[in-house]
Amino acid sequence: MTTDLPLNRGDFPDGFLFGCATSAYQIEGHAQGGAGPTHWDTFAATPGNVVRAENGDLACDHLHRFEEDLDLVAGANLDVYRFSASWARVLPEGRGAVNGEGLDFYDRLVDALLARGVKPALTLYHWELPAALADLGGWRNRDIAGWFADYAEVLCARIGDRVWSAAPINEPWCVAWLSHFMGHHAPGLRDIRATARAMHHVGLAHGQAIAVMRGLGMSNLGAVCNFEYAEPAEDTPEARASARRYDGIYNRWFLSGMFHGTWPADVLEGLEPHMPADWQDDMATIKAPVDWLGLNYYTRKLIAPAAGPWPAVQEIDGPLPKTQMGWEIYPEGLYHFLRFAHEHYTGGIPLYVTENGMANPDLPGQPDAARIDYIGAHLQQVRRAIADGVPVQGYFVWSLLDNYEWALGYEKRFGLVHVDFDSLQRRPKASYDALARALARG
Ligand code: FCB
Repeated sequence: MTTDLPLNRGDFPDGFLFGCATSAYQIEGHAQGGAGPTHWDTFAATPGNVVRAENGDLACDHLHRFEEDLDLVAGANLDVYRFSASWARVLPEGRGAVNGEGLDFYDRLVDALLARGVKPALTLYHWELPAALADLGGWRNRDIAGWFADYAEVLCARIGDRVWSAAPINEPWCVAWLSHFMGHHAPGLRDIRATARAMHHVGLAHGQAIAVMRGLGMSNLGAVCNFEYAEPAEDTPEARASARRYDGIYNRWFLSGMFHGTWPADVLEGLEPHMPADWQDDMATIKAPVDWLGLNYYTRKLIAPAAGPWPAVQEIDGPLPKTQMGWEIYPEGLYHFLRFAHEHYTGGIPLYVTENGMANPDLPGQPDAARIDYIGAHLQQVRRAIADGVPVQGYFVWSLLDNYEWALGYEKRFGLVHVDFDSLQRRPKASYDALARALARG
């Protein structure tokens, strides 16, 4: 019943880094340790937003079990642990008073990683906006860039000297579009003006936080964006145009802002009337030079035209095998984006696959073969990109643990390690063991 990955550490260049990723709200247990309330708590407490109205109050209780969890990271022979800090754990009101217990936690987490020989890869924001800032308009309010920069200063003054890398914001598209246009994530808005503002302010907050971290003398700073391969649902000019619009919003907006210092013209066609005044003046800040780009990649979408106002696109159910999320498995898309980012945007800086993985219900003791196949197939595409000269320097699995999968609650299991959400017991799955074998050193 043991399945192996089709390749191992030796199939990648020397120094290529393997890791796994998690995020604060999804694992820590946010009702504990003096953290302030976030917009995810209130979003989850509102009927109809989250499966069974589940929230991150306890999650995996990583706050109290992080030593055990980091042993699992090291035990899988992983080189890097990508984690996020919660803004509201550090600053319960988003600004002002610091929660010392929160800063102490991240301090101990970083030291515990270093003690195990694992590189700490910090993300400053993975979606749990302090509720007090949501009250002020959250990502719709231009002031958020300054509030975020101040938070970056407080957090990084404490741990910035010991992290291996840092990125301001996980998946700007989700923060802005998924949460303000589609309404699927907190704050659950469906409003194009709110969206245009969030699409811009997220970029501005990124740029200002990079500047703060540079000012603190930190290095190895990056951006982490998510990508979805957009395929026309049929071979018509209309379907091709709709897939192109989807691609612009999802895949090109933030790359273009961060690396070219312009928002893409085809997306501005829809967003320009709703953009904040004088947005052009912020583009130089948004383009703050970074040292690497992280790509999060899971799936592709078939896109067709839709009736109604811009962007007038709809997703069509596709024929490929799907994960527990209902996401089609399409590893070639990862190759596409690695090449695409390198050739058109990033100008030769290193790329990392900062998230990739699948939800699969297999329990410990079961084959978990679908997850092993998924990871193996995507690693093959990473190798293909490297062979074509793309400077990919690492690959991180989402996720270490089964965790709080946002609006889908605790049902979707992305972990290499199973978590029993009653006993909180951790048990490695077959995919964990396969990864540990493939990554064994020497
Ligand atoms: C990504 C998120 C991560 C997790 C995975 C499945 O978009 O960054 O928190 O939800 O998807």
